[in-house]
Amino acid sequence: MGFFKDKVIWITGASSGIGEALALELAKGEARLIISARREDELKRVAALTKLPDLDLMILPFDLNDTSKATALTANIINKFGRIDILVNNGGMSQRSEMEKTSIEIDRELMEVNYFSAVNLTRAVLPYMKRQKSGNIIVISSVAGKFGFYLRSGYSAAKHALHGFFDSFRLETEKDGIKTLIVCPGKINTNISLNAVTDKGKHGKMDVSHANAMSAGECANIILKAIQNNQEEILIGGKELTAVKIKRFFPKWFGKIIRKQSPF
Ligand SMILES: NC(=O)c1ccc[n+]([C@@H]2O[C@H](COP(=O)([O-])OP(=O)(O)OC[C@H]3O[C@@H](n4cnc5c(N)ncnc54)[C@H](OP(=O)(O)O)[C@@H]3O)[C@@H](O)[C@H]2O)c1
Repeated sequence: MGFFKDKVIWITGASSGIGEALALELAKGEARLIISARREDELKRVAALTKLPDLDLMILPFDLNDTSKATALTANIINKFGRIDILVNNGGMSQRSEMEKTSIEIDRELMEVNYFSAVNLTRAVLPYMKRQKSGNIIVISSVAGKFGFYLRSGYSAAKHALHGFFDSFRLETEKDGIKTLIVCPGKINTNISLNAVTDKGKHGKMDVSHANAMSAGECANIILKAIQNNQEEILIGGKELTAVKIKRFFPKWFGKIIRKQSPF
């Protein structure tokens, strides 16, 4: 994994799931990491697992629901590492609630955590990447960014928004040496369903479709290969990915099959 050696990489949502797996894989590749999420104790646990020396690791906890301090957070990173090579906008929160029962406050939170945080953090790192004339922006979307689904109206809207924004961003910034990869996982075995928001709080259950899905480690390795191969967009997962192709080529058939799928 020489490609990532000494690269300064900021991963959000690094306290669990795909973000944690990315941190562990990148640490094996001798990257220098900034790991973020809300739960500092969980970030410390991940930091210990990376076995990286303090010189090569920074724990930077914050809430993606408020990225108004994105510029100051980025300045902290620059103070310590002097540069930033890769930003992985991974942190996110899913949903298991019907639109009608979901408050506008929850819709706004889903948008803030899953969409605006990525926009704001990317804005904050952009001047440094432009100065370096290089950088990678990684955006973790979802197959929910490709089609809407039961109980995921706000989540799916936020993930769709990422595609419009970052497809445009890629075109505007590639002249500055900045590469943008949008990752669309299908089902990955993480705590995403347990942490999904409902109209009353948290879903708190591991959905069967996630329990039997691809591991976070396998997903992380596919993402890292896609970065090295300069890919612009990838789908990761199992048979659930077929729905993306069916929607594209056979939209009427897609309409029939999607109605038969379980939301869990
Ligand atoms: N797993 C899947 O099947 C799947 C499918 C498609 C897309 N994705 C996407 O993959 C990304 C990672 O999710 P995951 O599957 O690894 O789920 P996960 O295990 O629940 O991890 C989510 C991460 O996001 C962080 N996070 C959530 N809300 C946050 C907030 N308000 N502020 C800061 N950090 C926050 C969590 O940390 P704290 O709780 O410590 O803050 C945690 O580190 C998400 O963007 C998700 O939408 C996952």
